[in-house]
Amino acid sequence: MAEPVQTPQAFSKRIFSGIQPSGGLTLGNYLGALKRFAEKQNEGIDTIYCLVDMHAITVWQDPAKLRQQTREGAAAFIASGVDPARSILFNQSQVGAHAELAWIFNCVARLGWMNRMTQFKDKTAGKNAENASLGLYAYPSLMAADIMAYHATHVPVGEDQKQHLELTRDIAAKFNHDYGVEFFPIVEPVIEGAATRVMSLRDGTKKMSKSDPSDQSRINLTDDADAIATKIRKAKTDPDPLPDTLDGLKDRPEARNLVNIYAALSGKTAADVVAEHAGAQFVSFKPKLAELAVAVLSPITTEMNRLLRDPAEIDRVLGQGADRAEAIARPIVDKVYDITGMIRSRR
Ligand code: AMP
Ligand code: TRP
Repeated sequence: MAEPVQTPQAFSKRIFSGIQPSGGLTLGNYLGALKRFAEKQNEGIDTIYCLVDMHAITVWQDPAKLRQQTREGAAAFIASGVDPARSILFNQSQVGAHAELAWIFNCVARLGWMNRMTQFKDKTAGKNAENASLGLYAYPSLMAADIMAYHATHVPVGEDQKQHLELTRDIAAKFNHDYGVEFFPIVEPVIEGAATRVMSLRDGTKKMSKSDPSDQSRINLTDDADAIATKIRKAKTDPDPLPDTLDGLKDRPEARNLVNIYAALSGKTAADVVAEHAGAQFVSFKPKLAELAVAVLSPITTEMNRLLRDPAEIDRVLGQGADRAEAIARPIVDKVYDITGMIRSRR
């Protein structure tokens, strides 16, 4: 890809991240994204969080469900501690700057770069790729626009988004180079913590995903205490007890996953968890994990359900967030039109 470029120093730190409202959210979304989004609010910098509804329609969505899932997503952000007074929380389609900048980035990104995106390959694997939408293929260019429309410098995400952020850097660097400007910052992915990749409960080599056909593979943020306990009890493991060091988890993906989940939920390191539970059998470790998961998740589920009883209020919060987002993005995208030579003479 393009040669590495230093981050221009002129940009102050600003956080942006997004989640697709394309289905119910999982424990993976909570630990890999939502929980960390809330923590970032304490760093004294702008935090901008977006429900990326335009990304969601890269595969067909039932309109009524999309609306409902967008509200559920907003409720999940708020219930996880994202405060709409301290962060900007909105849905992507309400701010036209994203789609406008995405088109310009479509003209900057190269086909060869897009062809290397593993998420597109994964999402079309075993299917007829010729029949995938053009939007699904161009998805990373819209994601780059989401971030660059705010001159965001840091993007907290799970491990699976790393390649898309590298592409964002390449697009920004190529735009700067092609137009002889230092207009876009070069983003830093923020991939940290014990749960950057929460795995399926049925297969420790696959990521936990809302699109997995088996509901047993994931914990949903809407699951009740019984469902959480049952899923953890039935989670795939191996017959060995927990080792006393992390080395002992090598080649035991399912065991490692449960340890990582325990660590992330309890705010400990995986090494501490292993040390604490050394020699324990899964029959005794799993109920402790289930208890911890229920203690952390059930207040979130309860709060989500409370918020969802007033959809008009959620829509109002998203609208207000969109106004604040627009105020930042509009001047940046206007400047892009100027840099690229588009006449803007309307009053
Ligand atoms: P998505 O649900 O694909 O829109 O992802 C939203 C955010 O959650 C992104 O930052 C992802 O990296 C993160 N995420 C999704 N699934 C997982 C997982 N299994 N483990 C960790 N992070 C995840
Ligand atoms: N592609 C991300 C995902 O599937 C969602 C996303 C869209 C995003 N735009 C973003 C994440 C901008 C971070 C920043 O998880």
